[in-house]
Amino acid sequence: MCPRAASKARNQPHPKTFRSLMIEIIAGTNRPGSNTRKVVRHVEEIYAGLKVPYHVLDLAAMPPEIFSPGSYAEKPKSFQPFADAVVRASGLHVVTPEYNGGMPGVLKYFIDMLKFPESFVSRPVCFVGVAAGLWGALRPVEQLQGIFGYRNAFVYPERVFLPQVSNLLDDRGQLKSEELVGKLKSQAEGFVDFVERLQRTRLRGAAA
Ligand SMILES: Cc1cc2nc3c(=O)[nH]c(=O)nc-3n(C[C@H](O)[C@H](O)[C@H](O)COP(=O)(O)O)c2cc1C
Repeated sequence: MCPRAASKARNQPHPKTFRSLMIEIIAGTNRPGSNTRKVVRHVEEIYAGLKVPYHVLDLAAMPPEIFSPGSYAEKPKSFQPFADAVVRASGLHVVTPEYNGGMPGVLKYFIDMLKFPESFVSRPVCFVGVAAGLWGALRPVEQLQGIFGYRNAFVYPERVFLPQVSNLLDDRGQLKSEELVGKLKSQAEGFVDFVERLQRTRLRGAAA
């Protein structure tokens, strides 16, 4: 294949991609009791309200075998459902916390374990940041935008940041601010439009 054709091929969606009408929500940490997981629950409710099929990929549920160094060469079978879920997703909605000024190591490792290039090329992706600090995980969200952009994903520009997250959640782990819930809703609605237009499909009302 000539270099130009090879480059074009790299940028085409992989033939096996986008088979399910489903948003994959990625909870970007494996920390037990994480606030990220609580925010993911809101995002789930929002997609349910929009009648958009969704599924949650919780990094806390990743099989321990994936952390073996041998996984770079050969993925354990137990990781297959995670890899396949990403490859088949209509879009990825990543909720990331900030750890030490960046995304959690486990989230980057998860990305590094995904099938390449089909997990990324032309994959719509959007981001929510969750942090104890004042910047609401701006840093990890921008790192992720860089990584997915580098891999030729379609990055949805509307981001949501949840700074000082402990103050934003009540005892039941629910967001107290209607305004912030509204931002998450507006982001999810816009992202669904983005995915539907890019893929000339209909996610709202699709069978799960
Ligand atoms: C290892 C670790 C490093 C952290 N580093 C930061 C940080 O650099 N900036 C920040 O705002 N919060 C930091 N936090 C706090 C998290 O942002 C906070 O726990 C928040 O609730 C989101 O993470 P969670 O989903 O694990 O709860 C850190 C937390 C952990 C566990």
